[in-house]
Amino acid sequence: GFMDQMLTRQATEEKLTSLFGGKRCLVVSGDSDEDETANYAMGQTVNEILQALLPEGHNIIAVMGGTTMAAVAQSLSSELSTSRDLMFVPARGGIGERVDVQANNICAQMANRTKGEHRALYVPEHVSEKTYDPLLREPAVQEVISMIKQSNAVIHSIGQAIPMAQRRSMRQSAIDLLKKKGAVGEAFGYFFNENGEIIQKLSRIGLQLEDLVSMKCVVAVAGGTSKGHAIAAYMKLAPSQTYLITDQGAANVILKG
Ligand code: G3H
Repeated sequence: GFMDQMLTRQATEEKLTSLFGGKRCLVVSGDSDEDETANYAMGQTVNEILQALLPEGHNIIAVMGGTTMAAVAQSLSSELSTSRDLMFVPARGGIGERVDVQANNICAQMANRTKGEHRALYVPEHVSEKTYDPLLREPAVQEVISMIKQSNAVIHSIGQAIPMAQRRSMRQSAIDLLKKKGAVGEAFGYFFNENGEIIQKLSRIGLQLEDLVSMKCVVAVAGGTSKGHAIAAYMKLAPSQTYLITDQGAANVILKG
């Protein structure tokens, strides 16, 4: 029944929190690999966390892309804006993904849902050194980059290393290297192994992992059996204030070890 489910969930959350050294974990029922309502449930939990953590007044929220983040956007509510003004900015430039799951688009959807504002960053994520420097000096780009640097909250997902590398059209030689080095997960354009050691970093434009350390509100949202190992690995390198929002499918894999 419902009470049993609640107790199971609470026990799962406590086990995850202790496994990840006290980082707070919230688990929704279901498995987002099989049932996309779990994604929306995770989104609702993100909404509750933001409601609890974001200070009144002006907030700049950096957001990443992906299909999970797209579902999260649909679950945010305009009540978040009751005593706040919210500005959503993409945490990074574009990464050659489908437009509907790019951070720019997710920001627009989040702003729309919450009656907030958003900015877009029209810079591809990996460009050559020669292209990168002049692009960064463009005033329009500068404005958004400085907002990203001032953000007080971040929402991001976690993916499996090789599917993400393929989705981002990385070269086969680069994908082979990731495999050789034991990459299991990806978040923020950082690839890491099962010990949470960073193997490779893609992004040069936008938010870096070290920028998270000073942020009060860091929300990682990812679920599904297939992502269990990637999530467990990421939580080893995640900053201590990270809230993990996940589902029962991923939690089962994580707790099995
Ligand atoms: O960085 C991780 C990926 O953005 C996760 O993407 O939500 O589509 O699985 P996804």
